[in-house]
Amino acid sequence: MHTKLVAGNWKMNGLSGDLVEIERLKDGMDAADCEVLVCPPATLIARMHDMAIGSELLIGAQDCHAALSGAHTGDLSAAMLADAGASHVILGHSERRADHGETDALVRTKAQTALDRGLTVIVCVGETEAERDEQRTLDVIGAQLSGSLPDGCLAAHTVIAYEPVWAIGTGRTPTLEQIAEVHGFLRRTLSERFGNEGQEMRLLYGGSVKPGNAAEISALSDVDGALVGGASLKADEFLQIIRAFSDQ
Ligand code: 13P
Repeated sequence: MHTKLVAGNWKMNGLSGDLVEIERLKDGMDAADCEVLVCPPATLIARMHDMAIGSELLIGAQDCHAALSGAHTGDLSAAMLADAGASHVILGHSERRADHGETDALVRTKAQTALDRGLTVIVCVGETEAERDEQRTLDVIGAQLSGSLPDGCLAAHTVIAYEPVWAIGTGRTPTLEQIAEVHGFLRRTLSERFGNEGQEMRLLYGGSVKPGNAAEISALSDVDGALVGGASLKADEFLQIIRAFSDQ
């Protein structure tokens, strides 16, 4: 049994006024029997980090640059994010793969840089609807996994998120059997490559996780948490998901 991790990805949402949700989250988090992480836009990391001091709440980032520093206008390095208070960084989210043309090779370089700077990486994989229809789901995910992870990954600093592209923001989710199939495949593949560390890495499910489906998803073996988008923006809803994952 792994300690579960429930992570909120705020994506490009959140202004100063939304920090009140972090106060509400902290107030309701006492009974949480899992790790809780919020990944706000970079503009809010430092303030959220300061608000989280003295609580169990973890703060993370949504991306970092592959290079350590240098002439990359508008980009943020792993060291900057850690300096602002991030302990985790999401990498290879499908929205970055689609919107910014991020390849597995780039995600792998980013992951190595982030790990070198002491961040825990949450590396995302997932098939499109067309790929699932063509029954290529496991091939696609296997290729993303092997291409996006550097060698020598350790369970303490590596988290994998399975996010089917077609389930993100759509209200549609795979069947429980489909989630279990992919997570079982992830576990076998990671164990073959990383041995015991692969056994221990946490595997999150993401894509339209809501209070109403969180408990049944959490109960699946090899589901060690969730990566939550829309339902992480409001503390009330996010806390219901956290509770569902705490009860398992
Ligand atoms: P939704 O929970 O809004 O479907 O988003 C999932 C996601 O992309 C989290 O990274």
